[in-house]
This record gives sequence, C-alpha cells and structure tokens, in this order.
Amino acid sequence: MQGILDKQLIRKTSFINGQWQDAADTFEVRNPANGQLLAEVGNAGADEATAAVEAAYQAQKAWAATPAAQRAALLMAWHDAMLAHQEDLARLLTLEQGKPLAEAKGEIAYGASYVKWFAEEAVRVYGDTIPAPSADKRVLVVKQPVGVVGSITPWNFPNAMMVRKAAPALAAGCAFVAKPAAETPLSALAVAELAQRVGLPAGLFNVVVGTDAPAIGKVLTQHPHIRKFSFTGSTATGKRLLAQCAEGVKRTSMELGGNAPFIVFDDADLDAAITGLLAAKFRNAGQTCVCSNRIFVHSKVYDAFADKLVSAVAGLGIGDGLAEGTQIGPLISQGAVDKVAELVNQSLAQGAQCRGSAPVPTEGHYYPPTVLTGVSNAMAVSRNEIFGPVAPLIPFDDESDVIAQANDSEYGLAAYLYSRDIGRVFRVSEALEYGMVAVNEGILSNAAAPFGGVKASGHGREGSRYGLDDYLDIKYLCLGGMDK
Ligand code: SIN
Repeated sequence: MQGILDKQLIRKTSFINGQWQDAADTFEVRNPANGQLLAEVGNAGADEATAAVEAAYQAQKAWAATPAAQRAALLMAWHDAMLAHQEDLARLLTLEQGKPLAEAKGEIAYGASYVKWFAEEAVRVYGDTIPAPSADKRVLVVKQPVGVVGSITPWNFPNAMMVRKAAPALAAGCAFVAKPAAETPLSALAVAELAQRVGLPAGLFNVVVGTDAPAIGKVLTQHPHIRKFSFTGSTATGKRLLAQCAEGVKRTSMELGGNAPFIVFDDADLDAAITGLLAAKFRNAGQTCVCSNRIFVHSKVYDAFADKLVSAVAGLGIGDGLAEGTQIGPLISQGAVDKVAELVNQSLAQGAQCRGSAPVPTEGHYYPPTVLTGVSNAMAVSRNEIFGPVAPLIPFDDESDVIAQANDSEYGLAAYLYSRDIGRVFRVSEALEYGMVAVNEGILSNAAAPFGGVKASGHGREGSRYGLDDYLDIKYLCLGGMDK
C-alpha cells in the first residue's frame, strides 16, 4: 500500500475487546481506481460479533461510571491522533474507497471534528429539576448512557460515518461495536488502532469486519445486550434492520437514502449556484446521501444555467484519487457504474438530452460527470437516488409548483435552494419536507449541525447538542416525604 508511512495503521483483522482477532478465512479489499488487490482481511461473522457485544457489555459499566471529564480527555487524545495521522488515514481511505486525496483528507478532518465536538459535549450532559405537583415531592431528571450500541456504516464515508456514531456513544458513556462496509474496512480498523494507542479501555470500541452482513447485522440488532442500533445506508436495508430491532424494542437512529432537490430561482446569483451545485452534486463522485439529485431551475434562467454548468463540468479532472488534479474518482464498483448508466439510459429514452460527458480511464469503475437537460420529475433519474456524477436539470415556472415537485418524493434528507429574496427563502425552506435545508450554500454538513432526515430518510440526528441525546436515556426520580 504505497505511500502509507505508519504501516501499523494497516490492520487486517477485527478488533474485539482490545485484541486483533484472526479469522478462519479472508476476503479481498480492492482499489476501485484500478482493481488492484489492497489486502486480504480476516472474515469475521456472527460469533465474532457476539464476542464483541459481550466485551462491550463488560466494559460499559465502568466507562459509564468514569467522570465525564476523563472520558472527554480520552476522546480528545483520539481526535489528536486522527489529525496527527491525517495524511496516512486519508491515503488509506482513497486507496480503498476511490475519492480524491484532498476529499479524503477533508473526510478525516470532518470525522475528527465530531470526536472533538462530542468530547466537549460529554461534560455538559445536564439533568433537570421540575416543580413538583405537591409539597411532599421533588421531581428530578437525570440522563444516563443507553448501554451497548451496535452500528453498521457504509463505504461512501468509511471514516466519518462510523466515527460520528462512535464519538457521541463513547462521550455519553456507552460502549460501541462497529460493522463497517466490507468494501472499505481498512479505514475503520486504522481508527481502532489509534483508539488502542491512546489507551481507550479494552472492549469499549470494537470493529467487526466481514462479508456476512446479514449474520453480523442480526447480532447487532438482536443480541439482548444491545440497547441501541445506529445505521447509515440505504432505505431498503434500513427497513429490514428496523424490523429486526423492533423485536427487541431497541432504540434506533437511521440515516437512510435521499433524493435532494436543488432549486435555483430566477433571482439567484447563478455563479454562486453553480459553485454550490458542483460541491453538492460532484463531491465523492455523487456518492453521498445529501447529493443534489434533482436540479430544478427556473425557466427564465434555465438555458444560461445549463450552459454554465456544462462548461464547469467539462473542467473537472477525472482519474485515480491519488493522482494530482483529480476531482472525480471512480465509483465504488462496476455494479454502481452499471446502475447509474441504466438510470441515464432510461431517462434518455424518456426524452432527456445528454450534454457534457467526458471520456474516462479505461481501467477502474468510472462514470463520466454528465449533465442531463429536458428532464422531468417523473423520469428514472428523478425517482431514484442516482449515487453517481449525473446532474439532471428540470425546468419550472412557479414557486408553489416547485415546492410541490420537490416534496414529491418518499425521501426527506437534504434540500438546497438559491434565491436572494428573503421572503422566498423563508417560505420555501419552511415548506420543504426535509430534515436539512441549505440556502445559498452547497455544503451543509458539520459537527455543530443536527444531520438527519424525515420520511423514508430516517430518524435521529448526528452532530450538534441533539446528537448526544440519541445515546442517552432519560430517568425521572420522584422523591417523596419531603415535607417532614
Ligand atoms: C452521507 O452521505 O450519508 C453523509 C454525507 C455527509 O455527512 O455530508
């Protein structure tokens, strides 16, 4: 694995109860930019997941009793270690996931920012006193960690999606078992190596890597010691996992699919909207849940906007994420490329036109950044989450009509709007049925903000002060006989 200086960060087995665990067989991790083999990784299954949950259960009680300031100090040490190794972690991430190295460095800083945020929040888990209904009583509220947390996280952000669940869990006093995607296990294992180096007690943070996701997922959703399950991934898989969690009445956080509208009104600053769209559409080659999926452009500015976008997209550098100048890396797999191609072909058959589609490297899983015009909200690219670098432009004439079209989706994660009319900004943001609305901005994710959706995009929030509540139970204490 070229260029990684600290070779100890390249871990190839699960991390359970503070130990690196060998497995009977292995699975391959390959570079999506060229198909080269990166590592043979120990293939853990249900037994290892069970061992991890049991170790977490043993470790959690003492961790919950550890003063919050000590928990915070360990989290800050973990944060510092992530930033000290940012270069190596980013390189590992690009190798297994494909995104450009600059984006990978950004992801490491982004993931670490959640660890810092929740280290700082750990010491602010306040309770409450409530005026009692009678003179003999006192009513107190305390917040306690939920217990052992299981998680499954995706390949599109192999560092940040896992870290932004583990950080609030550990800050709250929970123990954590991670199951990263089998396509990208190395980033999570490197983070576990750093947890071990900074002295996080054994059993609190476990990483189970394997290809049998249903078997591992069953343990992480149904083991009696699991008290909470947190998932980022597709809505279809999220529904199955929720059903599994329902049997044991587990608490859940679900960050699921999106179909983000990006609305450009005729009073918008078009150049700012193009800059915002490049970020909101082409980050990670379009493989994010908050990527703009349907771009609604007012018909008065539609042609001008399309021309500007086509010329901006033509300038994007496509290639291996480690190569200088790359802005669009490969998609995660050939299956992902085929799925995007099918959506585009269906939409072309339904009457859309393709404008701007550059040549891509012959090796690796690439799809060219593409602009589609003449798209309607009924076409295949509009009804499905594209998860690729394709920008479909849909014309509209009227504010209430574009709100109705934007809300015509089962999803409700992120939405974007560009307008300089303050009244319209408030009217439209309030009417959009989405968990997050970005106004005149293409990047809305940060640790201070509550990230999450409504409708089929899930529930729960990650980041912000609300993010810690997802890992805390409320307990009410009723004190009687207080008048004697
Ligand atoms: C995601 O794609 O699920 C997360 C993207 C982000 O955190 O910005």
